[in-house]
Amino acid sequence: MPHHAPTILVTGSTRGIGAAIARQLRARGATVIGHGRKAAPGVVGADLGEPGAAQNLWESALALAHGRIDAVVNNAGLFADNPIDVSDNAWLDAWEETLRINLTATAQLSRAAVRHWQGGQRGGRIVHIASRAAHRGDSPDHWHYAAAKGGMVALHKTIARGYAHQDILSFAVSPGFVATDMAADYLVGDGAATILGQIPLGRVASADEIAAIATFCALDAPASMTGAVIDANGASHVR
Ligand SMILES: NC(=O)c1ccc[n+]([C@@H]2O[C@H](COP(=O)([O-])OP(=O)(O)OC[C@H]3O[C@@H](n4cnc5c(N)ncnc54)[C@H](OP(=O)(O)O)[C@@H]3O)[C@@H](O)[C@H]2O)c1
Repeated sequence: MPHHAPTILVTGSTRGIGAAIARQLRARGATVIGHGRKAAPGVVGADLGEPGAAQNLWESALALAHGRIDAVVNNAGLFADNPIDVSDNAWLDAWEETLRINLTATAQLSRAAVRHWQGGQRGGRIVHIASRAAHRGDSPDHWHYAAAKGGMVALHKTIARGYAHQDILSFAVSPGFVATDMAADYLVGDGAATILGQIPLGRVASADEIAAIATFCALDAPASMTGAVIDANGASHVR
């Protein structure tokens, strides 16, 4: 990381894991450019399901950062059911929405960041919030989510291998269930006991635990760790 206080774009910082990442980075002295679907003070509004939104987000973030961004945390994500017995068009629409938000926007932001760091400012870091689903697969209603997160991990490794010689580093975090809005419906009722029974730790992760890993990757991880994927799933999927 640079000697000056770094400026870091955190997507999906309005809630859950992203909010915890933003909080922990700020506590370490970083300037955080936040992001959510709607604009707010310190938060760039961009619905990543819309074409062009990722480019607009990057340009707005760069303007707020006075032309210098040191790291990007690709955290924004959608987890929505897509049963295989809906209509063909409904299934394809849901597939494309999840792929656009969870993978394509990540690729667009990563591309913009890599090109930024290949310009006047040398070096930078990308942290991808992937998922256990990338490695283990997901439920039958979530082909799209697992495919997007698997794509994110492959994208991450490609960036790490391609640009390390330019001091552009890439890290990925693969959480299992985390106690946020995204997982809330799964962590109440009958299904909760089944989910917890599959986690040797006996509980899901907190957003702060995932944020601690992401903050380490953004600020502290040694350069030789580039390309790493860090699991955080309570040993529910040990690889
Ligand atoms: N929670 C889990 O169990 C879990 C497990 C593994 C991986 N993850 C991953 O961790 C990341 C964060 O998840 P979370 O649990 O913190 O989720 P969350 O509480 O649902 O928060 C999602 C964040 O993403 C933003 N977002 C969602 N759709 C968006 C869109 N179309 N355009 C722009 N921003 C959008 C939301 O912004 P708004 O506030 O504006 O909606 C919010 O800031 C995701 O990539 C997720 O896949 C989560």
